[in-house]
Amino acid sequence: MPSNLAAAYGDVRATTEHLAAPLSAEDQTIQSMADVSPTKWHRAHVSWFFETFVLGPHVPAYRPYDDAFAYIFNSYYEALGQRHPRSERGLISRPGVAEIARYRAFVDAAMNDLLLSDFEPRVHELITLGLHHEQQHQELLLMDIKHVLSRNPMRPAYATPPERGDANDRPAPPKAGWIEHDGGVVEIGHTGNGFGFDNEFPRHREYLSPFGLADRPVTCGEWLSFMEDGGYDRPEFWLSDGWSVVMTQGWQAPLYWFRDAENPEQWQQFTLSGVRPVDPDEPVCHVSYYEADAFAHWTGKRLPTEAEWETIAMIAAGGSNFLGGEAPHPRPAVDSNALLGDVWEWTSSSYTPYPGFRAAPGAVGEYNGKFMVSQYVLRGGCCATPPGHVRPTYRNFFPPGARWAFSGLRLAQDP
Ligand SMILES: [Fe+2]
Repeated sequence: MPSNLAAAYGDVRATTEHLAAPLSAEDQTIQSMADVSPTKWHRAHVSWFFETFVLGPHVPAYRPYDDAFAYIFNSYYEALGQRHPRSERGLISRPGVAEIARYRAFVDAAMNDLLLSDFEPRVHELITLGLHHEQQHQELLLMDIKHVLSRNPMRPAYATPPERGDANDRPAPPKAGWIEHDGGVVEIGHTGNGFGFDNEFPRHREYLSPFGLADRPVTCGEWLSFMEDGGYDRPEFWLSDGWSVVMTQGWQAPLYWFRDAENPEQWQQFTLSGVRPVDPDEPVCHVSYYEADAFAHWTGKRLPTEAEWETIAMIAAGGSNFLGGEAPHPRPAVDSNALLGDVWEWTSSSYTPYPGFRAAPGAVGEYNGKFMVSQYVLRGGCCATPPGHVRPTYRNFFPPGARWAFSGLRLAQDP
């Protein structure tokens, strides 16, 4: 994202439209499960965010594009009143995509006027939050459309496959190496330099015992070994809640994996560029916390805590494979010390407030704090995360059974 705010605004808004461009009006309207939002809803909701938190309160002459949009495009802000049920977003055929494009243009015109004016630091902060919010929805748009398209028996591609055989691609090493840490008192959390979401604050101390963190994520090849060893059939590896889900949902493999109809030994996977064979060297993706934890038990290792993960990420900063190509997908490990990119990595840490956390006053304080229960923290960003959006202190979170995010894992071990 450019450092100039007006340039950043134009850049982020254009990226959202670029991501929606391969999708028809029909594609953009479907909601394949309650967790998934239609593409056109994402495009409108991020515009509603600027309208609600920036233009309404800070531009006296601003009038909303349509008063009814406050009901259908409010995601979860209780302080802003009633809203349309999340699970029924796919029932909204109107406004259609053309009207949502007009809505976006209307908000952009008002925002561009504001960006040319002399505004207060608080407005700068809210616009910045709105841009990072829209980047989060760019990744959600891709996660969600992948699920939508996966439910179509034709298994259509969202976009053409990325170029393969990139000079940086090479097979993952056969065994993960370990980045060792002596433990002790460490500090984690955002330092205050640059943007951070409220859930990254305040920076605080944690005590770590000595540990090792794998130098790459778990691969599909390793996951196939887990499956071949009865990983999904042996309750001894699983948390009780996880085993219940395995039983009721019939999980036998990561989401989007299926056996080749003509060669059942071969696993195929649905990707944003259509169906392709499972590549044993790629990081495994679309696994839940329950699966990640069961895999770790199978290996005799464990998942890292978020404090362990962040401590290593601050030393071994860097990463690769963020949103850039037409159809994001994880790639085999290319830099053994880069923790960012490719797949979000489950940690064993519950998503709870850091000591001293305070949500911001008002509706915007609902952004993160009220979700700090019954979820686990993931770290690192993924191939669908816009470049520059994540940092080592960034805390993503999902319920333990969720697996439609680009979620994988990296092992930790005790000495
Ligand atoms: Fe949102």
